[in-house]
Amino acid sequence: MPRTPLIVGNWKMHKTIQETVDFSLRLKDEFAKEKDPRVEVAVAPPFTSLAAAAKVLRGSPISLSAQDVFWAESGAYTGEISPKMLADVGCRLAIVGHSERRQYFHETDDSVNRKAAALIKEGLIPIICMGETLSERQGRSTLSVVEKQTRDGLKGLADKDPENLVIAYEPVWAIGTGHTATPQQAQEVQAFIRQLLGEIFSSRIAQGMRILYGGSVKPENIADLMAMEDIDGALVGGASLDVQSFAQIIKGAQPSKR
Ligand code: PGA
Repeated sequence: MPRTPLIVGNWKMHKTIQETVDFSLRLKDEFAKEKDPRVEVAVAPPFTSLAAAAKVLRGSPISLSAQDVFWAESGAYTGEISPKMLADVGCRLAIVGHSERRQYFHETDDSVNRKAAALIKEGLIPIICMGETLSERQGRSTLSVVEKQTRDGLKGLADKDPENLVIAYEPVWAIGTGHTATPQQAQEVQAFIRQLLGEIFSSRIAQGMRILYGGSVKPENIADLMAMEDIDGALVGGASLDVQSFAQIIKGAQPSKR
């Protein structure tokens, strides 16, 4: 089943409102140059820049994503943002379970699961991140780590219209290090994730779901990664902060280039 490639720029804690506006205007121009874009694109600015980005990107094919969310609808949760607030500001997607949140902010598979369910309920698309650390890979437990993250992170979502949810496989050792996983390493894990999705949902749903790769994606390696059967796009950190390099990654992900 053909899956439309998806490229998401995860800005992490970067860019002021003015920098967001400048970037978004330039990205819109770059994207307009592509006559037949067969790639879906989203940017994930920090919360403070979402409204400004939404204003610039409204009516364009570039979607807006948040970098996190809290699962409750509203209430006494100082500092948190609900799915409804994200929808209200113009987000279509939200990243959950990024390894930096797991590492520094105590994110667990259980909180990832609650966040994903809350996003789907609000009509938003969760991008659920998972991946092993270097010591887990060296200890040959990559597949069991990813299996637990998949099964626990997606628990109970089968009866909640999971069709649109997106998985991002991001080996922790590849994030921000310049050490990209080889296309074969990523493919092996992503094929395994798709098989698990087939068991959790159905093989029809699994075949339609997009599994992104993330971890030191650059203009130079996107085409080789995208050539793999189970790599349907990328979650890009560092290389998404520069319009030119992000635009080149989008270009490199075009199916015609495969
Ligand atoms: P990176 O980050 O592209 O800078 O490695 C990817 C991510 O953390 O999503």
